[in-house]
Amino acid sequence: MYARALENEFAREVRAGLTRPGQKTLPCHYLYDDVGSALFEAITYLPEYGLTRADARVIQAHAGDLLECLPPNIVTAELGSGTGTKTRAILERLQQRQTVTYFPIDVSEVALEKCAQDLGPLGSVFPIAASYLDGLREVAAGRADGQTLLVLFLGSTIGNFEPEAATDFLYGIRSCLQPGDALLLGTDLVKSVELLRAAYDDPTGVTAAFNLNLLARINRELDADFDLRQFEHVIRYDAPLQRIEMHLRSRVYQSVCIRAAELNVDFVPNETIFTEACHKFRPEQICAMARTAGFRMEAQWTDLEWPFAESLLVVV
Ligand code: TRP
Repeated sequence: MYARALENEFAREVRAGLTRPGQKTLPCHYLYDDVGSALFEAITYLPEYGLTRADARVIQAHAGDLLECLPPNIVTAELGSGTGTKTRAILERLQQRQTVTYFPIDVSEVALEKCAQDLGPLGSVFPIAASYLDGLREVAAGRADGQTLLVLFLGSTIGNFEPEAATDFLYGIRSCLQPGDALLLGTDLVKSVELLRAAYDDPTGVTAAFNLNLLARINRELDADFDLRQFEHVIRYDAPLQRIEMHLRSRVYQSVCIRAAELNVDFVPNETIFTEACHKFRPEQICAMARTAGFRMEAQWTDLEWPFAESLLVVV
């Protein structure tokens, strides 16, 4: 029974993060269960959260330019597709010149189902419920001669990695690809702290709910007893690191039991759990990161209303 409990990867990661000396952490990819994915979808509609609309605007404005940069016979894969809403503009353009093959990769099956339903009419949609690189390896293994892979990694998800891990991750993508394959990378650009604060701590509390859901998920899946009302969502902006940090702050002295991780953890008032970082970029930093990972920058399109960049990177 105990051996099985510790085999659970989620339990192990939670245990490692909450017993870490210094700052307690939780791994951010667990934010996206079905509830978390639905809450994130709600975030994208918030007036304060301009990121998703900027991403969609740049794609909408430049889908034609994008395809002009690519050879014929494209197969599209998307890492963390969610419901694939932003991708429609690309697939519609693509449909005008070839049959569409699209592999949305996501950990939320609910999101994938909606994605397949919404985008299915545009071509062949093959949802893959897997982590990014497992999914991409599966797509790459099935590619036919003469096909070029276009990988989409939108929404500035690359900014949720630590800088070194971001470059490693791009390199991981590159390792699944062949010369001439392409990566469309969406990145949020450095902007005013006021805009960022409002975006990540919206007054309706949707982002707070998204963050707190991580504790709720641990309660549901790891038989834990976090009292969600005794934690609050807080954000910090670290200017030198160009990043927003999301934390969950304990309001009181409290002790939490996480049975499946065989763990009791104590909190003092104002102590935080660091859940996620959202890095912001300068255009030249994206170029440098891409080059280190084995890509060249073919084109970069930006939105000025909400500074955001879409970079087309090609495997060299
Ligand atoms: N990658 C996006 C961003 O950095 C989405 C995201 C990740 C997000 N975690 C978040 C949005 C937390 C709001 C709150 O903004």
